[in-house]
Amino acid sequence: RPRVLSGIQPTAGSFHLGNYLGAVRQWVALQESHDAFYMVVDLHAITVPQDPAGLRANTRLAAAQLLAAGLDPDRCTLFVQSHVPEHAQLGWVMNCLTGFGEASRMTQFKDKSAKQGSDRATVGLFTYPILQVADILLYQANEVPVGEDQRQHIELTRDLAERFNGRFGDTFTIPAPYILKETAKIFDLQEPGIKMSKSASTPKGLINLLDEPKVTAKKIKSAVTDTDTVIRYDAVEKPGVSNLLTIYSTLTGETVAELEKRYEGKMYGALKTDLAEVVVDFVTPFRTRTQEYLDDPETLDSILAKGAEKARTVAAETLAQTYEKVGLLPAK
Ligand code: TYM
Repeated sequence: RPRVLSGIQPTAGSFHLGNYLGAVRQWVALQESHDAFYMVVDLHAITVPQDPAGLRANTRLAAAQLLAAGLDPDRCTLFVQSHVPEHAQLGWVMNCLTGFGEASRMTQFKDKSAKQGSDRATVGLFTYPILQVADILLYQANEVPVGEDQRQHIELTRDLAERFNGRFGDTFTIPAPYILKETAKIFDLQEPGIKMSKSASTPKGLINLLDEPKVTAKKIKSAVTDTDTVIRYDAVEKPGVSNLLTIYSTLTGETVAELEKRYEGKMYGALKTDLAEVVVDFVTPFRTRTQEYLDDPETLDSILAKGAEKARTVAAETLAQTYEKVGLLPAK
């Protein structure tokens, strides 16, 4: 079985619809066909300031949401990044292989550090993508299921894997991004030109999966569309309506063409009312299941402990090979 690996940050608290449709949904599907490794990337989270108790709680909350979304610990390896020390260890080796200019070209760093101001942005934030490289290469992943915003980091991973293999001999699998075109970028409901994210200018455009379903329904009903009246997919001319159609289609399995046909001659309001119901039907059991996992922290922690143990056997082997190739003297 080919291998997949991916990660999600715990920082956010509730996952949003972009996380789910762009990434987590694919993780659930891929555990059937692939040897799958998924993790909560708490080491990535501390690249920006975190409240310690909050980080701990959010790490469990992220794991609970992944299970609620359908990850099955019998079919995939689910773990917390910091439970596998090899991530930081391989991360160092990768830091020593990355050009300063190369790291400076990472657009996510540029965006995030611009928001924080250069004095407050940490070196950890700067080298964040290089830790991600280590995450992926440790598991010899063939594919990495993510949203479009992670593409550049996967490119960097490929570059560094090739560089290492070229310099020290074949060691790492070259991973490919696994990005589904339809859901690669879910847009903000109020500003359909920008991706849905926690840092949006208004919370009205952001669908948090754990919000009160009533709040969610309201946000969908007040989504920004356009002054035209036709319900059809056109990402350039009608980004708002197209985003709603994408969400609708992915959550129900109906194709966009089928939806266009069904809503022919109908008003935007009808589409929004129905979509609100579709989303509420999705988030309601999701919230319940998440709460069930949170109510049983012992089970949750033991799932994560088993996951870390499985992950470590793979990670330790790759790290040992890497250290050897680089010329680090083994401890006797
Ligand atoms: P993170 O935590 O920001 O996001 C988790 C996943 O959600 C996707 N995503 C979206 N997809 C579509 N539309 C959106 N609006 C949207 N917003 C977020 C992201 O693309 C991501 O797949 N650096 C990563 C975490 C990471 C990782 C890794 C991923 C660390 N190590 C190794 C893959 C492999 C991140 O911050 O994702």
